Amino acid sequence: MIPLLDLKRQYATIEPQINQAVKEVFEKQAFILGSEVEAFENDITEKFQTGHAIGVSSGTDALLLSLMALEVGEGDEVITSPFTFFATAGVIHRLGAIPVFVDIEESTFNLNPDALEEAITERTACIIPVHIFGQMADMEPIANIAKKHDIPVVEDAAQAIGAWRKIKGRRAYAGTLGETGCFSFFPSKNLGGAGDGGMVVSGNPDLAEQVRRLRVHGSFPKYYHHTVGINGRLDALQAAVLRVKLKFLDEWTEKRREHARFYRELYDMYQLDRFGVSFPKEDSDVYHVYNQFTGRFPERDTLLEYLKEEGIGTAIYYPLPLHLQPCFAYLGYREGDLPHAEKAAREVMSLPIFPELTEEEQEIVVGEIRSFYER
Ligand SMILES: Cc1ncc(COP(=O)(O)O)c(C=O)c1O
Repeated sequence: MIPLLDLKRQYATIEPQINQAVKEVFEKQAFILGSEVEAFENDITEKFQTGHAIGVSSGTDALLLSLMALEVGEGDEVITSPFTFFATAGVIHRLGAIPVFVDIEESTFNLNPDALEEAITERTACIIPVHIFGQMADMEPIANIAKKHDIPVVEDAAQAIGAWRKIKGRRAYAGTLGETGCFSFFPSKNLGGAGDGGMVVSGNPDLAEQVRRLRVHGSFPKYYHHTVGINGRLDALQAAVLRVKLKFLDEWTEKRREHARFYRELYDMYQLDRFGVSFPKEDSDVYHVYNQFTGRFPERDTLLEYLKEEGIGTAIYYPLPLHLQPCFAYLGYREGDLPHAEKAAREVMSLPIFPELTEEEQEIVVGEIRSFYER
């Protein structure tokens, strides 16, 4: 069996540190916010030089709180990618705003900046680029267009912690270019907690303060409310676990990148191009962190079944683009409106790429893919 993700292998490498950190929280019996969460927020601001970091209850709530802090609401339009996890658009809808989907680039699966400007109207209140699968969207043109129209950008960096892109000769980390950046610590993420968790990062002190208040029901000072927020706090237990794991993030990310390189070697060796398979492309000047290794595969659904029978775990992220989701039928999109997202949904499949995966396992995965096409 080669699973898509095996968190037990990761836990085995850090078990004493995790257990100790959890024990310390239990000894203090302080579970809500407090020094663990603050220390973790400081770790993140230091690592990514973000100015402010606010630990929140999930990646979804990081996005929701960002939009709330920007006062996005009823009737506003928010532009995003149709090829992302549902949460990106779900939070827009929840605030009474209207998701506006812009098609993706064929090569990276990220929002296509060339298609962005024509989607902007006088009602556009925010743009949410998503750094899908761990590769940053093309932020320079996106930021330029946003600036020209004076529209704030919220980065959905849920899958991309630690990713960067060279902009004007400097490394710009995922999450640090928008008004806010949103991370998810869902267990399958590159930095995954022991449950749900998320983080909003921002260089804007006023916006950060507003997120901080909104995560505690909008309370400031305590028990006084000028705005209505949510219960959106990161747990102290999650912060304790995540602080241990953060120390290993760079090393784990490098392993993911090594696996991506080895997959590409195997691709050449097994001549998968002959069968029309393509493996993910890295844009130039990017540091892809491979939360997912997502390629395109002819006869994708039959291949997935075949690999499942051979004991190989894969997944389809995502089988139906958001503009065609039944709950968004009211938006009036039709099949064919966003052809690149729709094509990706038909063709993509993600292969195992977790840090503890072995080369032998990768050889089996690619060998089985080859056997399928030669059957
Ligand atoms: C792109 C994207 N956005 C948002 C989220 C939401 O994060 P969470 O599951 O922590 O709420 C996720 C992950 O699940 C995601 O992959």
